[in-house]
Formats: sequence, structure tokens, C-alpha cells
Amino acid sequence: MSVPPTANQALLDWVEEVRQLCRPDDVVWCDGSEAEDRRLRQLMIASGSAIRLNEQKRPNCLLVRSDPRDVARVEKRTFICSQSKDDAGPTNNWEDPAVMKEKLHGLYEGCMTGRTMYVIPFSMGPVGSKIARIGVEITDSPYVAVNMRIMTRMGRPVLDALGADGFFVKCLHSVGSPLAAGQEDVPWPCNPDNTFITHFPEERLIMSYGSGYGGNALLGKKCLALRIASAIGRDEGWMAEHMLILGIETPDGKKSYVTAAFPSACGKTNFAMLVPPDALKDCKITTVGDDIAWIVPGPDGQPRGINPEAGWFGVAPGTSYRTNPNAMESCRKDSIFTNVALTDDGDVWWEGMTEEPPGHLISWLGEDWTPGCGKPSSHPNSRFTAPAKNCPSIDPQWENPDGVPVDAIIFGGRRMNDIPLVFETRDWNHGTFTGATLSSEQTAAAEGKVGALRRDPMAMLPFCGYHMGDYFRHWLDMGGKFGAKKPRIFHVNWFRKDGNGKFFWPGFGENLRVLLWIIGRCRGTADGRPSPLGVVPRHADLDWRGLDYPEQRFEQLMAENPVILGEQVHSNDGFFASLGEKFPAELAAEEEKNLRALA
Ligand code: GTP
Ligand code: SPV
Ligand code: MN
Repeated sequence: MSVPPTANQALLDWVEEVRQLCRPDDVVWCDGSEAEDRRLRQLMIASGSAIRLNEQKRPNCLLVRSDPRDVARVEKRTFICSQSKDDAGPTNNWEDPAVMKEKLHGLYEGCMTGRTMYVIPFSMGPVGSKIARIGVEITDSPYVAVNMRIMTRMGRPVLDALGADGFFVKCLHSVGSPLAAGQEDVPWPCNPDNTFITHFPEERLIMSYGSGYGGNALLGKKCLALRIASAIGRDEGWMAEHMLILGIETPDGKKSYVTAAFPSACGKTNFAMLVPPDALKDCKITTVGDDIAWIVPGPDGQPRGINPEAGWFGVAPGTSYRTNPNAMESCRKDSIFTNVALTDDGDVWWEGMTEEPPGHLISWLGEDWTPGCGKPSSHPNSRFTAPAKNCPSIDPQWENPDGVPVDAIIFGGRRMNDIPLVFETRDWNHGTFTGATLSSEQTAAAEGKVGALRRDPMAMLPFCGYHMGDYFRHWLDMGGKFGAKKPRIFHVNWFRKDGNGKFFWPGFGENLRVLLWIIGRCRGTADGRPSPLGVVPRHADLDWRGLDYPEQRFEQLMAENPVILGEQVHSNDGFFASLGEKFPAELAAEEEKNLRALA
């Protein structure tokens, strides 16, 4: 066991307690150094759990294949264990904290036998920032350790910032697969039958067991930065949201920042790294974050946002030099690929990366793959873990400890046939209502039925650490905290389809035209017309340089069918009723206003 590099007694005590419970063969305190990273990567390669990619094509990159039973977040095994069931609310699984802990202790007992236990101190947000929070993840997965080094600020500087008395969020993780003496390991140990991802918001404690994948295992991300942080934010008067943050600089030299909440695998990474089409190269987009935003009111009320993460855990399929060159550049080196295909020359490939697939691949299942074999080469939720600092569009302010000023908030989802391209909500409360009624077709980011329309309020359905009614109340209250500086709120839908099943809107870089209108509304320079949904652009209100988009098609893309929209408003009634007394009256009033506007 290495010498503990901290004087923090609470941390030392917890590590010892976990060591006695989980009984690893060895304990390693991660310092975050390059040497340590090299050692861990080498260890994974030697054990057969990772493949080193071609050094010329993908310097310092690994390919990892998960157990096919462990490929996405498992929402049905995710629990909020607040003291009172009512604090978790109807949208979360709940278990009594004492009951859950007893169950988990049974599972953790001896679960690291035959393995090394890694102690990973990490900071969500720039180390030392007042907005940042410290967590310590204990895990028996070297894969988690090398991913956490990309996704967070990790290691010795964090312990220094923590000091002897600093507070940290305890994050305990095990793949739940102890090794008996002499037993050979498997490339991706996991325990799908006993998977639990549990949160104890009052204690700010996270315990995860059985899965090694993404948000189930990289506990700084969804578990800390969203579920626990949302509860901290409610208590302290700030917001932890499933939002990207981007900067936009217009030709007049003015810079604005916006955040956008889209459900999982609905285009946050793409939007955050948008590349302007050729005719709009006089605009510049910069990236602060692609998944999570912490938004804090500044002294004058001005909301300021930070990206608590330090890397992208991005959906691979569909990512290409055409759709997202900045993401492609981000994972050109120093990255980890999970569940994508391996090419014959030691590089990676996934569906959509190039128009022509290679003639032969080894699929994410480790099988021979040829075009037309009838199976995808990569899992639909395969991902790259890439350092944010590799991203060519990274914003110069992305590590500003005070965050960046947020001028607009955008909601969006995959809505095939009803919601227009964009609308501006009437005001903060109407914007909150719009977020509260966000729906989207489900994607492969979580286990479940892909394509089914599901309610995903603020894109936070799987990530809110407390009662959704209290969360809506908190949103309404934050409008007051931001005061005159509160961001304007918009809704976008890149995914509307025409009668032939084709996307109406070209999307990707062309989304800049919509963003420019949004920024223009915030600056008072863009026009629109009133609509039952709020304010919408007319054809003449968008910048069409370089794109021939017929006015008639635009009218179809923007069409509002009052009957369908009215039905939709009513479709929320059951959900709102399920929130009981915690459902804010202000949102009922917004619903009334919407129905009147649509009548
Ligand atoms: P999480 O990391 O799961 O939270 O998701 P994300 O929101 O960052 O998802 P991501 O950006 O990786 O979404 C990728 C999917 O959205 C791919 O299938 C893309 O092809 C699709 N997509 C992104 N932008 C657009 C767009 O403008 N138009 C269309 N039609 N599809 C898009
Ligand atoms: C999401 O599902 O929204 C993600 C991926 O960002 S994961 O980290 O696995 O939750
Ligand atoms: Mn996400």
C-alpha cells in the first residue's frame, strides 16, 4: 500500500473503512501523473482488457470492449435514497437509506478480493474555483481510473486543495466481481444481475456496484455533477443542469454564451462544437462544455456557468469530420474508445465515421465484421473519452474559475412530427413550463425502448437527485435570484420530419442560423412574430447567406397545429398530477395561458 498523500482524517478513515469492507489485495492512491497513467494503461493492455491503437494514427489511445450486458446507464437500477420517499419523488426509484446500505454492504463485503483498490481524488470544476466541488472515487476498475483522469481534474492538486479539513463527496464504486485465488480475470468484469447506482443526497454519498460503464461508473459525471449537485444546488441557490455551454462571437465582435439542455444522445456535443457553414465563417463558436453546466448567480444576479468536467464522453456513431470535426480532433490522441470497431491497421471505426465502411473490421463484440453482414460494427451507445483541451473550438474562458455569463437557455429534443424549429418562450415562468414539458424520443444512452416518446423534463429525468416538483419550484425561484439578468429561454427541434420521413432541417452547422436568431433576440436586434408558443422567426428574420431554404418549406417547418399542440399540453396533466402538492401553481397558470393561446 502506498503512503496516503493526505492529512485529511475523514478521507483516511473512509479509505480504511472501505478497505476493510471490500478487502482488495492492494490500495493505490492516484496522483494523476502521466507516469501513473502510462502504468495503468500498460496494465490494462497486459491484462487483455484494452488494446493499444496504432501509435501513428491514434497516439496514446486505447480501445476497450465492454461485456455486452454492460453498455449503457441502467435507470431501473438507479436509486435516490433520501430519508423520506417523498424527497425522491415519483420520477426516481427510492429505497430507504438504511435498507439500501445494508443490501450494498452485503454486496461490497470482500468484493475487491484479488483486485487493486484505486483512490481517486477529483475536482468537478477548475481546482480551487469557488464553484468547484471535490469528490473522491474509490474503485476497483483501472478503466475507471484512466477515464476519470480525462473526464475530471484528478490527483495530487485536488488533495492539496482539499487540505486537512476540506469536504469531499464519497463515491464508492466496484465492478462487483471478486477474484478467487488463482482465478483468471475477464476483460470487462461486471455484475449485471446485482447492479445498483445509489445516491444518498442528505449525506452527499454515492455507492455504485456491478457496472463499469459510463455514468454508472465514472461517478463524477451524472452521479456527483448532476444527481448530488442538483440537491446541493437546491440547498444553496444554484443549478446543476444537463446542459452544454457554448460561446458565440458575431461579426461585430460581440460575444455571448448560451446553455442548452437536450436529452441524452440528442445533439449536445454536436451543438457545443458547431462549425459555421462557409457563408457564415464571420461567426465563431467556442465550446465550454458538452454535457453538464453548473449555473450560479453572480453578485449582480448575472448567471455564470461552468463546465464541471474536463473531457467529453461522447457518442461515437454519427460523429464524423463532416458532422463534428471538433469532436474528431478531440479524440485524435490521448483518448479511450469503448465499444467501437477496430480496423485492420489498428485504428477505430464506427457507423457514420466515413461514408464507405472499411472492407473488414473487428466489431465491438470482438467478431469479424464486413459491410453488409447485417450487424452494426459499433454499439449505438459506444463512446469516446477525450480531453476537452484537445478540442480546437475550446473556449479561452473554459477554465475561468468564475464561469462565463449565460445569456440564453435553450431546450430541445427529438420530436419527429409536431414542434417547430424554434420558438422563444414568453418569459422565465413560461420557459420553465416549456422545460418541464420537454419530451424526446428515447435513445440508446440508457437501457430501454429506443424511439418511444418519453417525458424528460429539462433533460433531467434520469439525473435529478430529488422530487421533480421541488425541482420545478427551484427553477421558478432561480428566476427571482437572477432578477433582471435572467436568461431568455428558447426551444429548438432539429428533428422534425416531412411527409416523406426526411428531416426538414439540415441540422449540424446550419443550426447556427437558429442560434444567431436566438442571440439577436437577447441583444434586441432580431425580429419575429407572435405565436401561440411565444415568439417565432419569420423566414425574413433568419440569416440565409449560403443556404437556399425555400420560404414555403420553412413555413412547413415552423407550422403550429393548434389541435395537436393543445393535445400535447393536456398530455402533461397526468404527469403534473403525479407530482401532487409539490407541483407549482405557477406552472398550472402557464398551462392555462398556453391553452388559451392555442384555442
Ligand atoms: P449525451 O452525451 O448522451 O448526453 O448526449 P449528447 O446530447 O451530447 O448527444 P450527441 O451530441 O452525441 O448526439 C448525437 C446524435 O444526435 C447523433 O445521432 C447525431 O447524428 C444526432 N444529431 C446531432 N445534431 C444533429 C442535428 O443537428 N440534426 C440531426 N438530424 N441530428 C443531429
Ligand atoms: C448521458 O447518457 O446523458 C451521457 C452518457 O452523457 S453517461 O455518462 O453514460 O450517462
Ligand atoms: Mn449526458
